[in-house]
Amino acid sequence: MQDLFDLTGKVAMVTGATRGLGESAARALAKAGAEVAVCGRVQADLDRVSGDLHALGRQAQGFSLDVLSKEKVRQTVELILERFGRIDILVNNAGVNNRQPVLEYPEEAWDLVLATNLKGYFLVAQAVAPQMIKRGYGKVINMSSILGTVGLPGQLAYAASKGGVDQITKVMALEWAKLGVRVNAIGPTYFETDLVKQLRNDPERFNFINERTPMGRWGYPEELEGIVIFLAAQASDFITGQTIYIDGGWTIW
Ligand SMILES: NC(=O)c1ccc[n+]([C@@H]2O[C@H](COP(=O)([O-])OP(=O)(O)OC[C@H]3O[C@@H](n4cnc5c(N)ncnc54)[C@H](OP(=O)(O)O)[C@@H]3O)[C@@H](O)[C@H]2O)c1
Repeated sequence: MQDLFDLTGKVAMVTGATRGLGESAARALAKAGAEVAVCGRVQADLDRVSGDLHALGRQAQGFSLDVLSKEKVRQTVELILERFGRIDILVNNAGVNNRQPVLEYPEEAWDLVLATNLKGYFLVAQAVAPQMIKRGYGKVINMSSILGTVGLPGQLAYAASKGGVDQITKVMALEWAKLGVRVNAIGPTYFETDLVKQLRNDPERFNFINERTPMGRWGYPEELEGIVIFLAAQASDFITGQTIYIDGGWTIW
């Protein structure tokens, strides 16, 4: 039987792959056989992550990418296509947060969070999808969050951006459904990465998250790997437009 989870010969592009969940996603794709374009802003991290993927026996290369710049996005996608010939799998993952009460929320923070987490996903997908459509096959995976569907105090711009990610996932999925490009989102709960270090180090918030989660704990970054491989692989070919939560049950209630 053909291995429904085998990504041998596929080329993946992962944004924000230099740390945290993006690094986990890049590693998962490489473990399943994919060649990986590792995208980020810090050269030393690009070298480290692509070196780790090489050690797994995969082709991998770091590409400097700031998703805030449409021009930079276009140039980087061109460079990846020159190097690898195509992009079969896109993981839109680069993200930021800024937690503040609504009444004090700075306009610049709103703009940065929305520009990175939402407009950045649109710009990258718009640059990558045409060559997928031309070949009639592609997988776009947008990193959303439980905050795309639940609210929490302090998460004004972040929740807006992730609700937006769920919605653009549906629109892209509909427009490309008959063209062979599947678009889905992953909705993680709290995972231990730099993005949530502040909460991890605050015993009150740390315990709130444990208590609020039916499974009683945060996620481990390696627990993201299965869902990334599934959504990138043939196993999920009849699934599109969905947000799949990886949240220890948080969004059940
Ligand atoms: N950790 C969680 O609990 C959690 C939960 C739900 C959803 N998520 C989502 O998962 C994704 C990754 O989060 P994380 O926790 O892994 O965060 P992280 O450890 O802070 O990593 C964020 C990544 O995004 C990159 N990035 C930020 N701004 C960028 C920009 N303008 N252009 C290009 N790259 C940029 C960073 O690159 P640099 O090194 O260059 O800054 C880094 O690689 C985000 O979309 C986040 O919303 C995380």
